[in-house]
Amino acid sequence: MNKNSMNKDRLIIFDTTLRDGEQSPGASMTSDEKIRIAKALEQMRVDVIEAGFPIASNGDFEAVKAVASIIKDSTICALARAKQLDIDRAGEAIKPANSGRIHTFIATSPIHMEQKLRLTPDQVVEQAVAAVRMAKKYTSDIEFSPEDAGRSEPDFLCRIIEAVIREGATTINIPDTVGYNIPHQFGNLIKDLIERIPNSDKAIFSVHCHNDLGLAVANSLSSVLSGARQVECTINGLGERAGNASLEEIVMAVRTRQDVFECNTNLDTTQIMNCSRLVSGITGFAVQPNKAIVGANAFAHEAGIHQDGILKSRETYEIMRAEDVGLSSNKMVLGKHSGRNAFKARMAELNIEFASEEELNEVFANFKSLADKKHEIFDEDLQALVTETSTELTNEPIKLVSMSVCSETGETPNATITLNIDGKEKQSAAEGGGPVDASFQAIEKIIASGVELQLYSVNNITSGTDSQGEVTVRLEHDGHIVNGQGADTDIVIASAKAYVNGLNKMIAREKRTHPQRGKV
Ligand code: KIV
Ligand code: ZN
Repeated sequence: MNKNSMNKDRLIIFDTTLRDGEQSPGASMTSDEKIRIAKALEQMRVDVIEAGFPIASNGDFEAVKAVASIIKDSTICALARAKQLDIDRAGEAIKPANSGRIHTFIATSPIHMEQKLRLTPDQVVEQAVAAVRMAKKYTSDIEFSPEDAGRSEPDFLCRIIEAVIREGATTINIPDTVGYNIPHQFGNLIKDLIERIPNSDKAIFSVHCHNDLGLAVANSLSSVLSGARQVECTINGLGERAGNASLEEIVMAVRTRQDVFECNTNLDTTQIMNCSRLVSGITGFAVQPNKAIVGANAFAHEAGIHQDGILKSRETYEIMRAEDVGLSSNKMVLGKHSGRNAFKARMAELNIEFASEEELNEVFANFKSLADKKHEIFDEDLQALVTETSTELTNEPIKLVSMSVCSETGETPNATITLNIDGKEKQSAAEGGGPVDASFQAIEKIIASGVELQLYSVNNITSGTDSQGEVTVRLEHDGHIVNGQGADTDIVIASAKAYVNGLNKMIAREKRTHPQRGKV
């Protein structure tokens, strides 16, 4: 086991935002978006980044390859079912990485083996061992997961894990795939496996917990107390269904309670807020205000008694410092008179790099027009500007050119919208229940997409009525789900931008294989 300078074990942080996080409805990311997130994770010193599932589609393969080529300090991992084609694709995708890992998995619970795989336990062991053997052709860093381990027979887990370690697996990841486990029980399972498997010392034990019962973080931490030395997690707890264990909660719990944990991470926790905002901006999954660590209220002390206590001594109510997660107390950063250099310097402090001079110029121009409408520009505004501008710069077929909306008491709201579709301008007008509804109807009159609006939400990016509103729409068509985002100081315009962004994503969607559905 690795020891850090304080003579404690290292807890390896394996981030799967780009893979399991991407399995959340509508959270699918482009290669550029994955690269932006991967760079932020590398900056935070995440040990392993699971960049995707290369067999899922050509887009996924290219995205993993691009991340593997660019990221230098974190290990880049690719997911593969226990199948030759999956492993070959994963192996090819991680080839450019400085340090690459293949993560192969097969289900081991009776229900998954019988109903999904239709394989006997013997066949499952055979396939798992063969998968590790195939992966060895590409890398010596091999992770094996018995999917649905949380509902598997411990004796069978011991058998299959011993066999894959013997074959060369170096990390054994125990997933609570359906979020069924309870902390003491899951912790005991990890302890039992480490004690009972004769060659368990040849591998790092890892956990991967889902949050269906709201216990993903508790189950992960209980496993760390039982000897797990890798935790799989995602930024903001993004992930399939109710999500995965949240990276920021795990890392801050271990750091804050060093009296309890015999290990620590190597993360630069001051990058947490930056990563959180980036991921929520790109995926359209807003962070709830009372979310631990990264929610807007996490460090806000409203109640008078708390404020009084904090002023006397901050430890009365604060167990962590806001600065430690990257929240600075002086948040006002730029304004109308800030020049290009100040703008560039602040962006660099936020670890935002520009792919080209053109992109920098665009974001700066958008910053100037925002500063005309809004006195104070905060870090959150800058991050939203970057997300907006990179959307504008991609060659999307539908662009919002202009809109005007009329909303008056006693009158039916109406909207007139001009769109540019593949270089041709088209205009349309429509009425609706409100200005947002009228705008969406006007867009639909032109596009006739047939999408169904499944979710609509508005969040203010910062405080104050001049704040930018960040709108997310979730659109569904033919079983495909996408999230569209838009930000503006005018929430009706933000809504139209979000709808257009969603339509563009729907057009760009690619058919993908889901890693955990169907037969191996
Ligand atoms: O939840 C799960 O079981 C997974 C595996 C692929 C590790 O995501
Ligand atoms: Zn999972």
